[in-house]
Amino acid sequence: MATRAATKKRPAARKSSKAVVKKFETVLVEKKDRIAWVIMNRPEKRNAMSPQMHLDMNEALEELAIDDSIDVVVLTGAGKAFSAGQDIRLYFRGTTGDPALRYKSKKASHHWRWTTLSRFPKLTIAMVNGYCFGGAFTQVTACDLAIAADDAIFGLSEINWGILPGGIVSWNVVNTLSFRDAMYYAITGDTFTGKEAANMRFVNKSVPKARLKAETIKLAKKMMRKNPVAVRYTKEAVRAVREMSENQAADYLNAKSDALKWSDPENGRQKGMVQFLDDKSYRPGLGEYNRKKK
Ligand code: ACO
Repeated sequence: MATRAATKKRPAARKSSKAVVKKFETVLVEKKDRIAWVIMNRPEKRNAMSPQMHLDMNEALEELAIDDSIDVVVLTGAGKAFSAGQDIRLYFRGTTGDPALRYKSKKASHHWRWTTLSRFPKLTIAMVNGYCFGGAFTQVTACDLAIAADDAIFGLSEINWGILPGGIVSWNVVNTLSFRDAMYYAITGDTFTGKEAANMRFVNKSVPKARLKAETIKLAKKMMRKNPVAVRYTKEAVRAVREMSENQAADYLNAKSDALKWSDPENGRQKGMVQFLDDKSYRPGLGEYNRKKK
């Protein structure tokens, strides 16, 4: 009888025909039209996150953070998965009994999925194209926006093999989903679709898979028309105030608004006022000011 492994067709890791930045073993980076596509690239393992992927991702994202040729980072997966979570063989079993490797892998894993992505200086979008399990919830939550295929499959599967949603997955889901949904999915391990993820507000929206990339590009381009410094300050502020009291938030937002005023090279605030009040050429309520107009 043919074995499971022998009968399976192995999807090839994606090679890029576009501008490839640097070759990584487990991550593919493509740049086009000021969007960087950062692709978890172990499709034959459903993009399960190995220690090597964590190291590759750290390096790739650190480069993109200071790359002037891009405005938006889209994080996605090659093949039929976004990511099947931590690699149970390499990340868990493979580091058991090796405290140094466990420490390094854990640190690298947390660093790119949360520390770096949740504070990324450019806009980030998670494009969930398929399976998204366990630890992969962290990078979805860390991205500023998330869009999923209607039929993507999400699951907090940790419970199914006797662990809890660790790292900061439990913290992420309870902060993003309703308490009821976070508890339900964490303790049952039931899966939910991209469509359900959109209804639960874990992602901003879901679309048919055939339109996923086009819709993601549309969203990225819409954001690229806005003042990038204002976008950056706004996303930082929205995250920061979540953990503040009202007084702290009011103080912080005053200071942040002043900082934005002084650090915006195109002086968007002034341009916006002139175009609305003097030229009467746009409506701030209905869209962004014309950034090209002097
Ligand atoms: N860790 C290690 N290997 C994995 C993982 C994983 N998380 N997910 C998939 N793989 C490997 C499989 O072992 C298999 O390897 P093989 O070809 O060498 O046998 C290969 O990827 C393909 O996986 P299949 O199970 O054959 O793919 P299928 O499309 O049928 O199912 C699915 C995909 C549903 C994602 C399934 O692989 C699965 O349940 N994976 C585990 C998901 C999970 O529980 N993740 C949470 C991990 S814990 C955490 O993140 C904290």
